[in-house]
Amino acid sequence: MTTTVITRIGELVTNDPEREGLLGLVHDAAVVLDGATVAWVGPAADAPAADAQVDAGGRAVIPGFVDSHSHLVFAGDRSAEFEARMTGQPYTAGGIRTTVARTRAASDDQLTSHVARLVAEMRAQGTTTLEIKSGYGLSVHDEARSLAVARQFTEETTFLGAHVVPADTSPEDYVELVTGPMLEAAAPHARWIDVFCEDGAFDVDQARAVLAAGADSGLRGRLHANQLTYGGGVRLACELGLVAVDHCTFLSDADVAALSESGTIATLLPGVEFSTRQPYPDARGLIDAGVRVALASDCNPGSCFTSSMALCIALAVREMRMSPAEALHAATATGAAALDRDDVGVLAPGKAADLVLLEAPSYVHLAYRPGVPLVAGVWQGGRPGL
Ligand code: NIG
Ligand code: FE
Repeated sequence: MTTTVITRIGELVTNDPEREGLLGLVHDAAVVLDGATVAWVGPAADAPAADAQVDAGGRAVIPGFVDSHSHLVFAGDRSAEFEARMTGQPYTAGGIRTTVARTRAASDDQLTSHVARLVAEMRAQGTTTLEIKSGYGLSVHDEARSLAVARQFTEETTFLGAHVVPADTSPEDYVELVTGPMLEAAAPHARWIDVFCEDGAFDVDQARAVLAAGADSGLRGRLHANQLTYGGGVRLACELGLVAVDHCTFLSDADVAALSESGTIATLLPGVEFSTRQPYPDARGLIDAGVRVALASDCNPGSCFTSSMALCIALAVREMRMSPAEALHAATATGAAALDRDDVGVLAPGKAADLVLLEAPSYVHLAYRPGVPLVAGVWQGGRPGL
């Protein structure tokens, strides 16, 4: 196995709880990679020799971003819907059906090459672990093939047949399909099951039924909840002890209390609020109430078509009053926790060799220099390249 030492790192973010502070910073550091894993972390002066050496030249190194929420399997474009929204139209779940029609009409090869392009775009911006949902097929065949496509790119695949009810079906019939034949076809390709629990999509009882059926098929639950309105979705996620509930934009005091008591992670997706002109979730209030907060992109053609975790960090800091350290931790270590992963999001011996070299002296630049491409290098599973 080839070893590589990345040395002269001005500021290393480890997220290692054994080290001091939220980010476990090490200055004047080095990291040794042995194949796909991190072998050693410490002061550059003490670094062991390795087969190859990379000089970070005083720049910062961070763990690769963990994007725990994306919808990359789709075809078509909704820029006209975005333009209409920017001139006064509200965002509604109804736009999803436009993408469903385009996705069903696309070939497997078209879907695969589109996902490949978006995954490459994400990796070039420092994302090394990625969750991908289905949800634009909404038929047995199209949900199963969406997940089969997603599986080519990540193990973190999520069955979101319960995204919206397709135009030609009643809600009752559709929930029966999702919890029956569609689940059966999707489950072999998925690790997770998700429901869009919202007015205009699925109510709490329907979400409960879908998550229960998924659990019976061995899928772990997650939920889109409280994105557009107040409702019972977040409390359902907490009651069921789900690892994460995503969006969390419209929260009552009872929702916040349920999150802090259950330990369910609130995954905030500020790119959505940025792209829909909705109010941002109260990240500060959640963190101060003891809730664990993750950040993810929600990359999708409707509510938020960004693949940039750095943008999400900048928005979290500037619009949601998270500190730069909290935001980076949320986009790496807590993102990993939201996928129930402890092998990524942290740079310590034995963890995945997933890291990002920044064209900056400090991680703070991710928020301080919004919109600027700061990724100078990416290693994923020890493999270098953008
Ligand atoms: O997470 N909220 C539900 N699903 C996506 C948006 C889907 C779309 O508009 O195409 C989301 O925001
Ligand atoms: Fe989403």
